[in-house]
This record gives sequence, C-alpha cells and structure tokens, in this order.
Amino acid sequence: MKKKILDMVVVRASQPHTDYVLLQLKAADGSALPRMVPGQFVEVRIDDAPGVLLRRPISINLVDRRRGELWLLVHAVGEGTRRLARLRARDIINVVLPLGRGFTLPEEDAEERYLLVGGGVGVAPLLFLGQELLLRGSEPTFLLGARSASDLLQLELFSAMGPTYVTTEDGTAGEHGFVTQHSMWNATDAAPFTRICTCGPKPMMQAVARMAAERGIACEVSLENMMACGLGACLCCVEQTREGNVCVCKEGPVFDSAKLRWLPGSREE
Ligand code: FES
Repeated sequence: MKKKILDMVVVRASQPHTDYVLLQLKAADGSALPRMVPGQFVEVRIDDAPGVLLRRPISINLVDRRRGELWLLVHAVGEGTRRLARLRARDIINVVLPLGRGFTLPEEDAEERYLLVGGGVGVAPLLFLGQELLLRGSEPTFLLGARSASDLLQLELFSAMGPTYVTTEDGTAGEHGFVTQHSMWNATDAAPFTRICTCGPKPMMQAVARMAAERGIACEVSLENMMACGLGACLCCVEQTREGNVCVCKEGPVFDSAKLRWLPGSREE
C-alpha cells in the first residue's frame, strides 16, 4: 500500500474526555485520502514542540470517505500528544500514512462473526474496523472495557454499529470487572464467533488471546510497542514471535495471536 506524506487541515478538534482529543482531518490540498485498512496507523509530525524530535504513531480511528476525513483519537499523555491536543480547527499538521498491517477483513458477504474487544484508547481502531465489517455485510459485536463510565470513549458510535457490551472496573457502567469477566463470554460457547480482534493494554490482550485459543477462535491483536521511525529502520519496536523477531511497525501492529509468544507452550506465557 503506497505511503503518502500529507499536510492535513484540522476540520474539527473535540474533547470526548479530559485526557483525549478527537481530530477530524482533511488533506489540505483537497486531494483524496489514500486507501487505508483498520488497524493501520499514521505518524504525525509534532510542530512547535522543541523537545519532541520524532513523529508520534497514532492509530486510525475512522475514515469518513463521504467527507474525505481521517479521524485520530489522541490520548494526551506526553509532550508530543499534549501538543496535538492543543490543535484547533484550521491548524495544519503533517502526517505519513498509511503505515503497518491491519486486521484481516472478511470477503464480502462471508458468514463471519467478529467480536471486537477493546480497552482504554485501544478502542480507537475498532471503530474503523466495525465500519469496514458493516460495509462487507458482517455486523460486529463489541466488548469494551474502561476504568469508569466516564472513561468509555465513543460509546454511541459503537452502539450504532452493532451489539455493544461494556465492563467498568468500578461498576459505574455495564458489568463490574474486566472485559474477560463479562458474562457474554458464556454466549460465545453457544454461538461462536469466527474471529476476535482486540486492542488495548497488553495483559488484557493476552487474556483475550488465551480465551480465544481455549474456544478455538482465530484472534488478532494490535500491539502498541514503542515506535520511533514507523518504517522498520530503527528497530525500537521489535517483538518476539514464533517465527523470530519482527518490527511491529512494519510486520504489524496487528498479529495473529498464535504467532506471538503469548500462548501455552511459548516462553512468554
Ligand atoms: Fe522504527 Fe519500528 S518504529 S523500526
């Protein structure tokens, strides 16, 4: 997939949560967005932040093809992402896209049942994945986890795409506990999903991968290893797999969980 370096204009910057900003971007020259698949990411140059030399990797939250918009849901946790959180409408940012490999999509009208499991900012790429599944005639089911009700991001958008189950650690929304404790897992035995896609904290994804393996369901995970170049050059994002070490930015960030050293029989279990 051909990469582009684009100046993009902020059409809208909103704050769905005190720690997050949603940037809706368009190509500044009015050109069409390149083809992108869910699970891929972009690298954003951080301007006007002298202490930030490297671009920041941000997963693609949504592609609104009708409006020609790219959505990025940014967790403002460091100097670079806090600078992005200060962007306003009409500001320009420079973006490299699309990068990495995304989730496996079903053939159109294939009889596939996807369960998308997200936690924290890991829910971001699952919105785009849900949109693409619907376009292929496959209704996604979502299972989303957060610390508290106020930390659930874009819940209305997920709910509009398919059945959406929620857990919170403090019990203020949905079922009390972690995503792996939700009662809907009992239903997966009766009406199995054909694929589980997950993104979020590593312990959550490892637990989801184990539950998928126990049920014989294919599982893809989106890794959030530290990244710098995003192009396979600096080797700072290396992950061990059963086939050797790979760069997450080039070979991932989405991997078949069976290829990682996470499951029984592997060294990292
Ligand atoms: Fe540089 Fe992956 S981020 S090799």
